[in-house]
Amino acid sequence: MTKDIVDRLDELRAAAVLGGGQKRIDAQHAKGRLTARERMDLLLDQGSFEEIGALVTHRCSNFGMADQKIPGDGVVTGTGTIAGRPVAVYSQDFTVFGGSLSEAYAQKICSLMDLAMKLGIPIIGLNDSGGARIQEGVVSLAGYSDIFLRNTLASGVVPQISAILGPCAGGAVYSPALTDFIFMVDGSSYMHITGPDVVKTVTHEDVSSEDLGGATVHESVSGVSHFTCADDAECMARIRRLLSFLPQNNADDLPLKNSDDPVQREAPELDELVPESPDQPYDIKKALLVIVDDGDFLEVQEGFARNIVCGLARLGGRSIGIVANQPAVLAGVLDIDASVKAARFIRFCDAFNIPILTFEDVPGFMPGTSQEHGGIIRHGAKLLYAYCEATVPKLTVITRKAYGGAYCVLSSKHIRGDYNVAWPTAQIAVMGAEGAAKIIFRKEIMAAKDSAAKEAEKIAEYEERFANPIVAAERGYVDDVIKPSETRARLIRAMELLRTKRDVNPPKKHGSIPL
Ligand code: HXC
Repeated sequence: MTKDIVDRLDELRAAAVLGGGQKRIDAQHAKGRLTARERMDLLLDQGSFEEIGALVTHRCSNFGMADQKIPGDGVVTGTGTIAGRPVAVYSQDFTVFGGSLSEAYAQKICSLMDLAMKLGIPIIGLNDSGGARIQEGVVSLAGYSDIFLRNTLASGVVPQISAILGPCAGGAVYSPALTDFIFMVDGSSYMHITGPDVVKTVTHEDVSSEDLGGATVHESVSGVSHFTCADDAECMARIRRLLSFLPQNNADDLPLKNSDDPVQREAPELDELVPESPDQPYDIKKALLVIVDDGDFLEVQEGFARNIVCGLARLGGRSIGIVANQPAVLAGVLDIDASVKAARFIRFCDAFNIPILTFEDVPGFMPGTSQEHGGIIRHGAKLLYAYCEATVPKLTVITRKAYGGAYCVLSSKHIRGDYNVAWPTAQIAVMGAEGAAKIIFRKEIMAAKDSAAKEAEKIAEYEERFANPIVAAERGYVDDVIKPSETRARLIRAMELLRTKRDVNPPKKHGSIPL
């Protein structure tokens, strides 16, 4: 009797592993995609996977479904480890009803999420799904709602990471959208609320899946995704890398990675990085790479709003979130996309106690009707709000321009910046010297016999007064003016000191960020 049950279990487990069958597995491979289990194998430490719910089946009897039951029902769920640290993972199996979500399937994911919340471990979702299982109707929608609620409640408690590894439609995109990071695979993953056929019916647009919601679109136009990978294998490797920077939950210590990179290592090349002329661009990433441990910098949303750089790195072995204006793109100006990108990143870091390091070289907020009508005031306020409410250690290096409102916004001393330093090339002022001189000395310039000469004289006068970090240092608005070459050592020392920082916001249900 027991033997019969054991044999039956073996059969069911084998059926679970086979999913929708060899033909559909071959079709998946032919599209350059891996199966749900192959992805898990690459993601998790070898032999660490503990499956939960492999024998669960759906309960639908509509449209002949009663005869089509596959153990596991299209989603593989369980726990495992990544670099020795536990994680909860679910992996959708496109070979089973197109990875579509049934009531039972949703319950498997919800149970896993509940477990992850109890254990305080990250949740990773590998998505490859046609959305709600059409045969199940509203019970499938109920299942999605149960997942969305858990995504929201888990937000800021445990890191949630989504990989989009196939065509994800409908409900299959909203759960990832609620998570912290989205990975996509170039040329084989799509995210859209409705596919090209529905788009054609509703808006009469002809558009391919790729142009509607492919990796390139979501990386560079919509800003929905955070990382684009070449294939499934690279995607799994990059999820592992991302997790190496993150704590397990919002009450956990940051992971410590020992490095041979000397704390005191000087970077003389930084003394020459910022050009003499304030109008000349330079690449701030060159500075980031030489300052952080081992040049190891994981850029987030690399292809979106490239005028601001966000990413994770380590200083003295501890994780840090970096936000840096990029003078090489649009002079590093703050526009709508840059504001929203950085605001979200800052809030993620703050939620998980990751200190925030800001490199500032910004001419201000982007002027013009397109930005004003698009709501730069509302979106810029998100960035301001995010910096103001963040209570993690906040470190700021002003490399060149800190002009106008952007000076206030970018982690200034006034909004609880903890360690604010400037390079000698810093210019901290209401605006650039030329614009400033033309406004405040307009009458004098107009009245002069040689108004061009007068204008040059007044610009020089304003530059002399403000095109340096001294006035701000005199006021204590920057803590020190440091040599660029010593930035690494100074930041690591400040990070050490700030490790015991405590700061709290007033008690409230939650703030009302200008969304
Ligand atoms: C049940 C589904 C399914 C679904 C696909 N299949 N989607 N079964 N429910 N939602 C099945 C197919 O019948 C097929 O079964 C197998 O999965 C593979 O599908 P194909 O169409 O052959 O694959 P492909 O050509 O690669 O196209 C994939 C696809 C397409 C783009 C995902 O199948 C598709 O458009 N599906 C419907 C997407 C959708 O509209 N979903 C509902 C969204 S509404 P066989 O047996 O032939 O292998 C929604 C509401 C939630 O999700 C909203 C919450 C906010």
